[in-house]
Amino acid sequence: MTDFISFPFYDLFHENGHVPKIREKLPSLLTGVTRSIVEIGAGTGLITTSLADCTPAEIFALEPSAGMRAVLLSRLAGRPELLERVTVLPYDALSLDLPEPAEAMVMINVMYALEPDYRKRMWPVLAEQLEPGGLLAFTWRAGGAPEARALQEVESRRVGRHTYRVLVEITEAGEETYEARYLYQVVEDDKVITEEEITGNAYRPLWETIEAELTGAGFVQADAPEGMLAWRLG
Ligand SMILES: C[S@@+](CC[C@H](N)C(=O)[O-])C[C@H]1O[C@@H](n2cnc3c(N)ncnc32)[C@H](O)[C@@H]1O
Repeated sequence: MTDFISFPFYDLFHENGHVPKIREKLPSLLTGVTRSIVEIGAGTGLITTSLADCTPAEIFALEPSAGMRAVLLSRLAGRPELLERVTVLPYDALSLDLPEPAEAMVMINVMYALEPDYRKRMWPVLAEQLEPGGLLAFTWRAGGAPEARALQEVESRRVGRHTYRVLVEITEAGEETYEARYLYQVVEDDKVITEEEITGNAYRPLWETIEAELTGAGFVQADAPEGMLAWRLG
């Protein structure tokens, strides 16, 4: 596991990345949800606090990585009123085992990390833990895997005298799976002070794949904001 290399960079880039757009979409997506929400892959809690802010529901924030959970719990500690309402589940999605079925489940920017076999096994587990008619909503990008491309900078942000920078190369690309190499750099002036690398597979399932998996697990497609898919348990 080398994912920890990316943790110091996470909030710096994502607070200005996908998070503001998702925050705008949550209130309409979760209209009428009042009792309970499971967030699969809560990460550092950037979305978790927004779920708590836009609904009165109890939140179950599931996050398997101890490093991400450390930031999530730190964020919750800074919002003591949320400690009454947010439970942090320290395990992966297949281990989900709730005291009672959830009203809604939300999974933001997690799909890319789920191997196809794992993902196929996950939907029935989620269905089992969701109430009849319950909502399952997640981010999804059409078009399958991106094409192979050379190393290029994708993000950078100044922190005092340093710049935190991420470069990405897509080294191999299939239909739904691709291999990416990430360089995480801390730079002062033009001097790279630290540089660490992560290489791994990522996944962008096609619509036909997702549709077959979700309908096979008993879900029916519902309306969703752009960039997301929503399903209800039939
Ligand atoms: C890109 S982060 C997204 C975090 C958060 N949802 C957000 O939008 O800021 C992906 C998260 O998914 C988590 N994750 C990866 N595999 C998982 C699994 N099998 N079950 C649950 N979470 C998983 C990772 O640990 C990581 O925190």
